[in-house]
Amino acid sequence: MIPVCRIEDLPEGESVRVEAGDATAAIAVFHTDGAFYAIDDMCSHQDASLSEGWLEGCYVECPLHAALFDLRSGEPTCLPARKPVRTHAVTVVDGILYVHPMVRSVPGEPVHAAPEEAVA
Ligand code: FES
Repeated sequence: MIPVCRIEDLPEGESVRVEAGDATAAIAVFHTDGAFYAIDDMCSHQDASLSEGWLEGCYVECPLHAALFDLRSGEPTCLPARKPVRTHAVTVVDGILYVHPMVRSVPGEPVHAAPEEAVA
């Protein structure tokens, strides 16, 4: 797992780009609707950083062509993006936010963490 930041350093409505090492592409981490979410930073349409997009609840709008991605599933909800981006699990331990690259949740279980969650 990769440490992102202290939870107070990522306020509601903000996002941050995290380099995930050689094994995977950069990851965008968001704090919105009272929870943290992580998805691939690169838009599935073209070369744009989703961490620089606009948050609308649990959705982020790509800054280049305005495709909207659901942070819970990674699925685009409108064109021009047709393919999903990957979601990544996040946890909060002792006030530190971590992202788990390539770890997907069990269907029906959340991939997000609320700020008050403490997962050992
Ligand atoms: S690059 Fe994201 S919608 Fe085109």
